[in-house]
Amino acid sequence: MAVTPTDVEQPVTSVDIIVSKGNEAGDITYANPIFFKLAGYTQGELLDKPHSLIRHPDMPKIVFKVLWDHLKAGEDTHAFVKNLSKDGSFYWVYAHVRVALNPDGSFRNYVSTRKSMSPAARAAIEPLYKQLRDAEDAGGMEASEKILGEFLASQGFSLATFNDAMIKLQNS
Ligand SMILES: Cc1cc2nc3c(=O)[nH]c(=O)nc-3n(C[C@H](O)[C@H](O)[C@H](O)COP(=O)(O)O)c2cc1C
Repeated sequence: MAVTPTDVEQPVTSVDIIVSKGNEAGDITYANPIFFKLAGYTQGELLDKPHSLIRHPDMPKIVFKVLWDHLKAGEDTHAFVKNLSKDGSFYWVYAHVRVALNPDGSFRNYVSTRKSMSPAARAAIEPLYKQLRDAEDAGGMEASEKILGEFLASQGFSLATFNDAMIKLQNS
């Protein structure tokens, strides 16, 4: 059943570490207790289901494109994500998603470790994502990619250095 988003925000504290793991398709293969608590689902409702079950409609598509482009290239990604809980509430996180390999170098899984987002990052990211979403509604992902590129350039970065820009925002 589709979840209707509300304006209720769930706090993520500075000691919270929210972990989940995913297979090649992005389906959830493991998550820690706080992941389930914030998402508001039971293990049975989330395990083996796509991570997009907690996708918030305010999230721009371009951010997930950047995430998957990095992961498919075997690279870590740092990204800010607004997630949707089962009761319609939301929570913001600063996610570090990496590709874990087996000892023989083959793909093992994707691991996302999420923390609270810094206030400075929130102040910059929330209006940016709104702009990206509006651009996607009007002109698709090509339009939002252009705006994201311009935002990154204004901070001295580019799409190629997206991670560095996000790390800097989190630490500013
Ligand atoms: C390990 C891992 C963790 C992820 N965590 C989230 C998450 O917390 N929230 C989210 O919306 N997408 C997350 N994603 C991205 C989803 O797989 C998906 O790309 C995104 O929700 C957009 O879904 P859609 O392309 O079906 O719209 C994660 C992906 C991986 C591999």
